[in-house]
Amino acid sequence: MDFCSTLLIGIAIYLLVHFVRFIFADADFPLMWATWSGCKPETKLKGLVVWVTGASSGIGEELAYQLAGCGSRLILSARRVDELDRVKRHCLECSSLQDKDILVLPLDLLEKTSHEAKTKTAVQHFGSIDILINNGGRSQRSLCLETSVDVYQALMELNFLGTVSLTKQVLPHMTQRGSGSVVTISSLSGLAGTPLATGYSASKHALQGFFNSLRTELTDYPNILISTVCPGPVKSQIVKNAFAEELGKVSPTAEDQNHKMATSRCVRLILVGIANGVKEMWIAQQPFLLFYYLWQYAPTWAWFITDVLGKKRIQNFKAGLVCTSISLSIGLSTAFKNNVGGTKTINVFSLAY
Ligand SMILES: NC(=O)c1ccc[n+]([C@@H]2O[C@H](COP(=O)([O-])OP(=O)(O)OC[C@H]3O[C@@H](n4cnc5c(N)ncnc54)[C@H](OP(=O)(O)O)[C@@H]3O)[C@@H](O)[C@H]2O)c1
Repeated sequence: MDFCSTLLIGIAIYLLVHFVRFIFADADFPLMWATWSGCKPETKLKGLVVWVTGASSGIGEELAYQLAGCGSRLILSARRVDELDRVKRHCLECSSLQDKDILVLPLDLLEKTSHEAKTKTAVQHFGSIDILINNGGRSQRSLCLETSVDVYQALMELNFLGTVSLTKQVLPHMTQRGSGSVVTISSLSGLAGTPLATGYSASKHALQGFFNSLRTELTDYPNILISTVCPGPVKSQIVKNAFAEELGKVSPTAEDQNHKMATSRCVRLILVGIANGVKEMWIAQQPFLLFYYLWQYAPTWAWFITDVLGKKRIQNFKAGLVCTSISLSIGLSTAFKNNVGGTKTINVFSLAY
């Protein structure tokens, strides 16, 4: 065999291996690479002080458990103190941490004037904050034309300004020491458009813009990591807590979460990303992961698919069907209907975010 043929076969095998890896991947290539050959969170995060907002449920709660397992010292924040106490008790049960290693620090992201004092309390307790994980937030399930501007304002106040406000309090402590990490849980909706979540998507796009710009402003601090995490659908209380058309109204709750990624897997990937200094993480199972790549590298295709599939999602929403995925159902998919707790549910094999 001549050199050219060997080279071509080598390239073909290389591409095939990556294609197979991509099919089974649940994160972007750099993050998957870090899971295979990077540092382990257990080694890198042991003993570090990590402040997690939104620690009372879902992704934040699981972050607390896995970080406790890594031996990180924790500051747990959210509004519901009883839930934070429950999370703390479980952290102590499943790790070797002592009571003093976990500070429950109730915090409302909307109360921006309290953030300075909360940060002081955290710093006084532990001496420093190594990692801030901006996780607290709420989603949205409503059509733009039916949604009050107050809902848009609330989404921006909470997801964007609340996060920016806390970050601005914590960051000076990191620049003073010359090290630290600010990790923000954005979303696939921070990269791509999401029907029924115009305000949520806008707030996450705002976070992406803010932190991408901040990262560049901090190039003089090579030991400060600014990282954004963009998960696709993950099991949590996010849909139950989503904003609807008006403030005070909640979205339908009968949601089958079977199609969503396990919270534990999403959080493991986040911790691997932090341990390896990954600046942006895309975390989702297929076919969602493919959708990130389309939005990034083939936006014309992404627009086309979003239009076709988003139409179906909106039809279902208007018909009062609670979709088991945030459904963008593919034409070739088979749909079957059933009844969950009296609520009409449509179960669709779908591309969802
Ligand atoms: N699950 C997904 O599919 C998914 C996908 C992409 C991105 N995300 C993002 O992941 C993050 C966590 O969401 P989740 O899925 O874990 O949802 P979740 O189970 O509803 O958790 C949301 C957390 O945010 C806290 N929170 C809400 N309003 C707050 C406020 N005003 N001040 C302080 N904390 C507040 C809640 O605690 P309290 O109610 O006790 O305050 C709760 O701990 C969010 O930023 C979300 O946008 C989720």
